[in-house]
Formats: sequence, C-alpha cells, structure tokens
Amino acid sequence: MKEQINIGLCGLGTVGTGVIKILENNKEEIKHKLGCELAVKRVLVHNIDKPREIHFDRRLLTSYPEDLYADEDIDIIIEVMGGIEDTYLLLEKALEHGKHIITANKDLMAVHGQKLLQLAQANQCDIFYEASVAGGIPIIRSLTDGLASDRIQKMMGIVNGTTNYILTKMTDEHSDFQAVLQEAQELGYAEADPTSDIEGLDAARKMALLANLAFQMNINLSDVDVKGITAVSQEDITFAGRLGYTVKLIGIAAISEGKVEVSVEPTLLPQDHPLALVKNEYNAVYVYGEAVGETMFYGPGAGSMPTATAVVSDLMEAARNIRLGISGSSYVSPQYETRLKADDEKYTRYYVRLEADDQAGTFQSLTNIFTSENVSFAKILQLPASKEGSAEIVMVTHKISKQQLLNSLKKLDDLEVVQKLISYYRVDGEE
Ligand code: NAP
Ligand code: HSE
Repeated sequence: MKEQINIGLCGLGTVGTGVIKILENNKEEIKHKLGCELAVKRVLVHNIDKPREIHFDRRLLTSYPEDLYADEDIDIIIEVMGGIEDTYLLLEKALEHGKHIITANKDLMAVHGQKLLQLAQANQCDIFYEASVAGGIPIIRSLTDGLASDRIQKMMGIVNGTTNYILTKMTDEHSDFQAVLQEAQELGYAEADPTSDIEGLDAARKMALLANLAFQMNINLSDVDVKGITAVSQEDITFAGRLGYTVKLIGIAAISEGKVEVSVEPTLLPQDHPLALVKNEYNAVYVYGEAVGETMFYGPGAGSMPTATAVVSDLMEAARNIRLGISGSSYVSPQYETRLKADDEKYTRYYVRLEADDQAGTFQSLTNIFTSENVSFAKILQLPASKEGSAEIVMVTHKISKQQLLNSLKKLDDLEVVQKLISYYRVDGEE
C-alpha cells in the first residue's frame, strides 16, 4: 500500500488556502485515519508572484497546468480555481493521465459533469464534488450513501450562501442590497463574478446536481426555472413580513408520477418555517424520502474553511480508494429518462403585488380576472401607494398552477385600472 498520496492543487484562493490550512492543521489526525500521508506536490495559480496569506514552500507554485497533470508522482488533482471550458480541458487531460479528481466547481459539474464522470470511470479514476453543493454540508454523500436505499420525492433548500446573506441583512437590518453584496464578496462567499449568485444560476446548478442524484436523471441547467434576487425590494420584504412571511431564495426539486420540476426562486415562507430561520451564509436542505420521511441538513454553505472541509474529506475518500485499489467504482449512470413537468402541472401558492387606481370598481375588475382563471385568495392587503389616487394591493393565492398564474398576470397587465404589476413570488411551506 502507498505510504504517501501526492496532490496537485489547482487554485490557491479562498478555498485552496483553506485546503492547505486543513491539511497542515489536521495532518496527524488525517494520517491516523488514512494510514498514509497526504502531500501537496504542486500548486497551480494564475500569478505566481502574488503575495499569499499562508506560509508554504513557494517553489510549489506554477502557472503551467501540465506541471500537475503530466507529473507521474501526482495521484490526485484538487480543482478549486473555477471556470468551465478551460478547466474541463485540464481535468480531461488529468483523467487521461490517470489522476483522480476532487472539485468544488458546480458550474463545471452542472455543464460537463456526466462527461467527466464517464471519463473518470473509463480511466478507473474517482471524481468527487461534495464541496460544489452547500459548502460544508455533506449533502451529496447523504444522497449517494446515507439515503441511497430510499426513493427521494422532494428536496427544498437554501443552497446559496451569498444570497442568503444578502436577504438576511436586508430583512433583519434593512441593509442596502449592493452594500451587503460587497460584504459577501469580501467574506469570500460570492463567486468571482457574483452575477451567478444573485441571478440564481449558482443555486440552479446546485439544484440540478442534487436532482440528478436524487431522481437518477440527467437534468440540465436549462431544465431549471430560475429567478434571482435582484428584483427583491425592501418593500417586498416588508409586505411579506406584514403577512407573516420571510423571503428566501429557495431551490426546489420534486418528482411525482415520474415527472420532475426543479426551480430556484425567491419564495415567501412562514416566519417559523425551519428554512426561514436559516440565516446569513448558512445553507439548509430538506429532503423528503418515501421511506425515511423528512430529513434536514444544515450548515455553512460558503466560505474558506467549511468548503475546504468538504474538499479534504473527498480527498481522503479518494486516497482511501487508491490504497484499497477500488478507485473509479462509484459512478452510477442515470437510470431514468428526464421527464419535466409542464407549467400546468406545477402547483404552489403565489404572492402578487401591484399598483392600481384607488377607485370604486378596481377590486371588482381584479376579482373578475382571477375568477376567469379559477384563482382564489388566502390573503389580501391594500395600502395607499405613494402616488396620489393609487393603491398598493398585495394578494396571496390559494394553490394554483404556474400556468394559471401566468395567464392571470398577462390579463392583469392588460387591465386599465392596473398601473403596474410590481412583483410576484412563490409562497411555500404551509399546507
Ligand atoms: P478564488 O478565491 O477566486 O480563487 C481562485 C484561485 O484559482 C486563485 O488562486 C487563482 O490564482 C486560481 N486560478 C483561477 N483561474 C486560474 C487559471 N486559469 N489558471 C491558474 N490558476 C487559476 O475562488 P474560490 O472562492 O476559492 O473558488 C474556487 C472554486 O470553488 C470555484 O469553482 C467556486 O465556485 C468554488 N466554491 C467556492 C466556495 C466559496 O465559498 N468561495 C464554496 C464552494 C465552492 P491567483 O491566486 O493567482 O489569482
Ligand atoms: N458563491 C457560492 C455561495 C459559494 O454563495 O453559495 C458556495 O458554493
């Protein structure tokens, strides 16, 4: 058996630095658990001259990917640098050279995951990506191991730390969106380009990865309904609060009668719902299995050390497999053809906020539209708008299909008494 497993580390930013720290700080415990040493042999970065916050042998630094994938001494490549196409090519080369891969890159796995997993299997290599979803929470291993015997029916979660941090600060401290986004960037939670966080794409990629594992299908990013948080205003948060709700960016993946729906969108949850209580950069994923019932996973969803914990735990599994000679045996191909629900098969409740003429007959006109689409309401709130002669109206529907909502919104938009359709959001978590 190998006495030392050698690692090539691609990326020494927020996550890469955490990986080095854990390998150094927990060296003895890791060696005891594995029965061998883990040694970083090379570190790939963009700029080898940049000052680094940790002390290590700078001679390990290189800006040439082939120094890692073509080095015969290196057993495992850790990819924590981000990027999609160039990174795919690097990892493809690494697998062809027989290297095992650990990655935290959900962008890459959501786009090229199936290809990489198959290539890994063909080369008898492992590829693990626990850190790519929900940072420090072992949700992937829970789906592939702990809950493997069950049929998962629904997952609902907060899987982006940056947006949860922003919404928490906007709700609890009435903070300004841009100022809190900058804080999240400084704390190392946001992506290099935070657009993918705030537009919901990062969470959508993670939900696609989770849905594939839970439902054994091949669900792509384009199969996910995505709406980010950029349009969520302080007014929406206040109105939601007055109605007893908290606004969260929620990912949902659900299956019924063999068809799935996967979405990421700002959602109003009752203030005492377990997911409404998940604050700051923390993530949580609720998983409902046919046999197990309800389970909930909670922990830090972003940041250097939590994410690095998942990376190094994956690294230890890959190292263990090398020593046991069982690498490349964990990939399971999708069992089912992907079947997506149409909009008239997706049911939930909705919050709709609009500005309308404050005059007799307005409510009657609105009611006529909703009645024509068979939509009824659970809650209605009317307040004077800032503009003279206008009123703000907030409604929460009973359960309706997404198609009913879209038809109603289109008709409302054409209605003369409606001045502006301000916002609409999913409402979930109460039956
Ligand atoms: P980061 O702080 O921006 O660090 C990126 C590192 O990769 C830097 O060291 C950079 O080199 C290097 N790098 C980038 N492109 C490169 C290239 N083409 N060639 C060589 N080196 C390159 O990023 P991060 O926050 O650590 O995130 C890394 C990955 O982990 C991403 O895929 C991200 O989505 C994922 N992730 C991050 C978190 C988190 O909380 N931050 C959580 C989960 C997953 P220089 O240092 O020379 O610039
Ligand atoms: N930008 C991501 C987030 C990092 O905020 O959740 C963790 O994947």
